[in-house]
Amino acid sequence: MQNFNYTMPSTLIFGDHCIEKNVKVFGTLGKKAYIITGPVLNGKQTGTKHQSVIDVENALKSQGVEYRIFDGCIPNPPVLECVKATQIVSEYAPDFLVAVGGGSNIDTTKAIELLLRYPGHDPYEVLFGDIAPERPTAEITGTWCMGASDDNKKIPFITVATTAGTGSEITGASVLDREDIDNKAGTKPFVWSDYSFVDPRYIKTCDTKLSQSNALDALGHGLEPYIDTGSKDHFMVQTYSEMGFRLFAEIKERLRSGKMTDEDYEKQMLMSTIMGFSETQGQTGVPHGLGYPLTHVKGLPHGLACGAFEGEYLKIFKDTSKVDNALKMMGFSSIDDFANYVHDVLDPHMEGMTVTRQEIEEWTDTFYNTEWRVLRHPEKFDREDVKGIYERTLAKFIVD
Ligand SMILES: [Fe+2]
Repeated sequence: MQNFNYTMPSTLIFGDHCIEKNVKVFGTLGKKAYIITGPVLNGKQTGTKHQSVIDVENALKSQGVEYRIFDGCIPNPPVLECVKATQIVSEYAPDFLVAVGGGSNIDTTKAIELLLRYPGHDPYEVLFGDIAPERPTAEITGTWCMGASDDNKKIPFITVATTAGTGSEITGASVLDREDIDNKAGTKPFVWSDYSFVDPRYIKTCDTKLSQSNALDALGHGLEPYIDTGSKDHFMVQTYSEMGFRLFAEIKERLRSGKMTDEDYEKQMLMSTIMGFSETQGQTGVPHGLGYPLTHVKGLPHGLACGAFEGEYLKIFKDTSKVDNALKMMGFSSIDDFANYVHDVLDPHMEGMTVTRQEIEEWTDTFYNTEWRVLRHPEKFDREDVKGIYERTLAKFIVD
């Protein structure tokens, strides 16, 4: 018998030139907008704006919408940077926001949206506490309680994805650097966009490193909930993840060689979106938890930091039936074959990084103390298992 809950309140608009073809959407949310993006996309240094920003500005102008641009988003956004950005944005009192970028810019926008809803409160309480009341959990089956019960305070926003990995454009949570606990953490899934534009043309300018780490991040968004406690039997999670595995199989060798075609980029964008659907219904699990310190402490991009653990994590499964099923759809012959692929693709991007055994001990403790992540693993999972995954994944980079 099937038992699940499913929430997807964002309208997804996918395809080449999707903004140009749907400019009227930008006239439906108000008369004043704030574009939230980063300095590179806005051409701060080069003077050349990314096509995504150009398309959004043209769409807003065509609808007679006044706008300002905040281009101060930074990678792996810390909460306090989001608070500063909220102050700037609030002075203009926009009717709606437009996030343009990858996960960091979109997550910054989501944080701004939540902070604008609840002015005057402690930002950590707003983002991670109970100020935004959840919808009643009664009669809801599954791991997430989707959305806040006071959505009437919501500031509408549009997301425009310029990378294919995060899935953040169509998920309800924002992942932020928390200075108070010295680690990354996700908000509850309260912050859904009203419209999400996904144009595969925008990722064709991504370099190979970004494409590879983003694709492995997206793969994790589908793979982790597919095999994790809580969502391994969720019909929608399973269906979306399997669609994503098959798309990954079609691009994986050209992703490895860095010779992606236009068709491959479209498939990567589709995979990222589908895996985002899976993640937002099912939640990420062990590899994402293991990867957070690599981003927070070592500064590695999120996709690279989390993707790196996908291969070695699978090796700890004793019952491999579900894992084998996923790998078969991805076109791998064994767990070792998959783990070698992940090392092959991602290890070169970690060249120069060093890790000490003391750091591994600390990260192991941090992970193991995050009980809900430990419980995501469907089998017995002790501290030595966690440490072993860190040691095997980072073997080339341990210096003592
Ligand atoms: Fe991720």
